[in-house]
Amino acid sequence: MYNVREISPQIYWIGGNDRRLEQFENLFPLANGVSYNSWLILDEKTAIIDTVDDAITDQYLENIEHLMQGRELDYLIINHMEPDHCGNIENLIRRYPNVKVVGNKKSFQLFNQFYNMDITDNQMLAGEGDEINLGNHNLKFITAPMVHWPEVMMNYETTKGILFSADAFGTFGALAGNLFDDEVDYKNLYLDESRRYYANIVGKFGAQVQSVFRKISSFEINMICSLHGPIFRSDLNLILDLYDKWSKYEPEKEGVVIFYGSMYGNTANTADSLANKLGQRGVKDIRVYDVSKTHPSYIISDIWKYSHMVAAAPTYNMGLYYPMDNLLHEMISLGVKNRKVSIIGNHSWASAAHKIMTERFSSMKNMEIIGEELDIKSRLKDNEESKLDDLADAIAASVLGKTEE
Ligand code: FEO
Repeated sequence: MYNVREISPQIYWIGGNDRRLEQFENLFPLANGVSYNSWLILDEKTAIIDTVDDAITDQYLENIEHLMQGRELDYLIINHMEPDHCGNIENLIRRYPNVKVVGNKKSFQLFNQFYNMDITDNQMLAGEGDEINLGNHNLKFITAPMVHWPEVMMNYETTKGILFSADAFGTFGALAGNLFDDEVDYKNLYLDESRRYYANIVGKFGAQVQSVFRKISSFEINMICSLHGPIFRSDLNLILDLYDKWSKYEPEKEGVVIFYGSMYGNTANTADSLANKLGQRGVKDIRVYDVSKTHPSYIISDIWKYSHMVAAAPTYNMGLYYPMDNLLHEMISLGVKNRKVSIIGNHSWASAAHKIMTERFSSMKNMEIIGEELDIKSRLKDNEESKLDDLADAIAASVLGKTEE
């Protein structure tokens, strides 16, 4: 059965959910699936904005068939050529062979790389500031290169103030009937997953997000329709302010994310003891993760959220314990910066982990080291507690000092 909703007169959500997918991009765990949003405008002219992943093709085509009632599709607008949104371009062209497929040169280049269909006769180029008038509605194109692919565009519907924002402002997590931010407890149901989505997928491209902010700053935006997750129509500033902060690599909160690698529990013991001491010193927001257990995307998400981090790991094969090494490489790749860091190494006969972690953090921008070097030998003993107290004092002073400002 069709499953659609009118979100504004003549504009319909025609997307769907995938709750079977284990990992988004075969990389990021999905605890509660993901939605693929697509939009149909039934005006004097008809237009579809982006399609959906081929995992939900049947539902998608049924939705379109129900709403179109035999009408012709005039425009298929391709704002993003990643396959989770392009899985049905070919299907729609087969059904509507006269449709104008609207994209930029990069979009069509990517289409030709991913697919075999020749759509030369359907192509219509659109770029910065171009407009398509549908009758009552008018779509203005905004280019958003590298948010997070090079061809990305957004559309601003000028009569209603609706921003079709491609992946931006989207989230992991399937929709559950309620489509608008004011119909769900967004902060509890989606916000953490929205941050995880941003940090891991868009996080590297903060400067490009800021560039889009400059372009849309003069627009009156009443609704934001992302390709993943709920529509914002009530508290737009919640997500706009967070995106501004996230893309400037500014922490949301003072707090400490402790992540450790531990083969036999000794580094874990040090990390837990440090967390205990921070708690006793009045630090409220402390998160502790085992890098061998928790998927890096969750740790990265909290690194984006909080001001401080502590990395603790042993030496392994004269190098750094692999899961920690992997996590730090991801942080470097994503451009993590502007954080305060403490480093705890562990080794039994030759020290490498502390040095490598220090080098990794030094290669990130504006990372301030908090506390003295702590490189333990196999296990921190009771008679060495003062070293951990000193580190806890330094971190707590930094966190609480900032909080009290
Ligand atoms: Fe939802 Fe960049 O694809």
